[in-house]
Amino acid sequence: MSGRIEGKTALVTGGAGGIGWAICKRFAAEGATVICADITAPGDFPPENVQHRSLDIADEDAVRSAFARLGAEWDSLDILVNAAGIEIEKTIEDTTLEEWNRSFAVNVTGTFLCSKFALPMLRKGNGPSIINFGSYDGFIADPGLAAYCATKGAVHALTRAMACDHGPEGIRVNAICPGYVDTPMLQSFFEGEGSGGGGKNLDDLQQAVRDVHPMRTYGTPEDVANLVLWLASDEARYASGQLWVLDGGLSAQVQQMKL
Ligand SMILES: NC(=O)c1ccc[n+]([C@@H]2O[C@H](COP(=O)([O-])OP(=O)(O)OC[C@H]3O[C@@H](n4cnc5c(N)ncnc54)[C@H](O)[C@@H]3O)[C@@H](O)[C@H]2O)c1
Repeated sequence: MSGRIEGKTALVTGGAGGIGWAICKRFAAEGATVICADITAPGDFPPENVQHRSLDIADEDAVRSAFARLGAEWDSLDILVNAAGIEIEKTIEDTTLEEWNRSFAVNVTGTFLCSKFALPMLRKGNGPSIINFGSYDGFIADPGLAAYCATKGAVHALTRAMACDHGPEGIRVNAICPGYVDTPMLQSFFEGEGSGGGGKNLDDLQQAVRDVHPMRTYGTPEDVANLVLWLASDEARYASGQLWVLDGGLSAQVQQMKL
C-alpha cells in the first residue's frame, strides 16, 4: 500500500525537536524523503529516508547555501515545514533586547528565510505546501511569554500574506497553532517561572493544566504530525491561508470565574 505522501520530498526545520521529530518520522512512514534541518541532531536514530542537516535558520547565509546545496541534489521540493522555534519565558519588562531579537530571529525571520530560499524549489514541486508553526499564543496570551506571543502573531500574519502571494503559483501555505503539546519546550515552560505554578509541584501543575482543557489532556507530537501530514498531502489541495488551531478545545472555552 502506498503512503499518503509517497514519493514527495520534505524539509522540516526544528526536525530534531519534539514536534519536528514526530513529523519527520510520520512523513518517512508515509513514503516521503525527508531532511531534518536543525541546529541540534535528533536524539533518536533516524529512519532510512530521513537525513539530518545542521542548520541555523536565523543565519541568512547558512539558509541560502543549505537550499542551494539541496537544489543541486533534489531540484524540486514538495513540502516545507517551518517548525523550529524558541520560547523565552518572560514579561516584556524582564526580556532583554537581545532575547527579544533572538526570538524574532528564529521564530519569524527563520520562517521568512527558509520559505524565501525554498520557493524556487517549491515552484517545481508536486502539490507544494508550506506549513508554518504559529501557536494558540498568537491569538490569546499565556502569562510570562510576551516575546513568544508576539512572534507567533507575526507568523500568523506572515502565513496569510504568503498564501495570498504564492497561491496563484499553486503553493499552499498554512500555519498550525498548537496549544499545549508534550515536548521539551512544554517541559521547560512548566519548569520556568512563566507557567504560574504558584509553588505547585510539577506533577500537580501538569495535572492542573490537563484539567483545564475540555479534552482533559494536552496534545502529543503525534497529534500535531497527523494534522501536518494532512496539510502536506494532496487531500488538502484546497486548504490554504488558514491558521489551524489544535488545542484540545482549550481556546474554545471561557475560563469560569471563581467568585
Ligand atoms: N510544545 C508546545 O506546546 C507548542 C505549542 C505551540 C506551538 N509550538 C511550536 O511548535 C514548534 C515546535 O516546538 P516543540 O515543542 O517541538 O519545541 P522543541 O523545543 O522540542 O523543538 C524546537 C526545535 O527547534 C530547534 N531550533 C531552535 N532554534 C533553531 C535555529 N536557530 N535553527 C534551527 N533549529 C532551531 C531546536 O534545536 C529544537 O530541536 C515551535 O515553533 C513551537 O513554537 C509548540
